Amino acid sequence: MEDTQLQSLLNDLESNATIIAFFNHKGDVGKTSLVYHLAWMYADMGYRVVAADLDPQANLTSAFLEDDRLEEVWLQKDYRTIYRCVLPLIRDIGDIADEPTLEHIDDPSLYSYLALLAGDLYLSSFEDQLSEVWPKCMDGDERAFLITSAFWRIMQKTATIHQADCRKQLLSTKPMLF
Ligand SMILES: Nc1ncnc2c1ncn2[C@@H]1O[C@H](COP(=O)(O)OP(=O)(O)OP(=O)(O)O)[C@@H](O)[C@H]1O
Ligand SMILES: [Mg+2]
Repeated sequence: MEDTQLQSLLNDLESNATIIAFFNHKGDVGKTSLVYHLAWMYADMGYRVVAADLDPQANLTSAFLEDDRLEEVWLQKDYRTIYRCVLPLIRDIGDIADEPTLEHIDDPSLYSYLALLAGDLYLSSFEDQLSEVWPKCMDGDERAFLITSAFWRIMQKTATIHQADCRKQLLSTKPMLF
């Protein structure tokens, strides 16, 4: 891996956000509902929260957004949902997008504590690649590493963006991501 590429990866890891992943092999057990309510709860408590929807079903995104807004988000080509963030990797033409788009959910007068990284039905097209490249990381395959670490690095970027928004507003609470 080139030095500049490695440096860029390390820069992405500078955020000090707490990242909590909600995962369970079993379906329909309440993961999405729990994340939705915890995101609101932590925002109410004064944490700056990014809820990131990494499930191609995009149920978390539907919970946060009205149908009309959801349609706008998915039709707007320059709106970087989680899928559009990884699209250059899927197409093998580059790395993750520089700036994921964040949707501010709560009242802007509350300094937008709660933001959403929108999910996307097309994300299912990334799943085969994710499982295929995982073992190749052990062989030092650079592309495999870029793909496997993509979600983690996107989370870091969203934390940095959300925290930067908060700095603009002279707040400095620690951001939290789901
Ligand atoms: N604490 C709860 N008590 C009762 N019902 C719940 C609770 N949490 C979620 N549910 C209901 O259970 C169903 C599944 O919830 P949810 O979609 O959050 O699960 P999930 O694990 O995200 O599912 P999936 O695997 O499809 O993503 C929904 O109908 C939801 O309203
Ligand atoms: Mg779910």
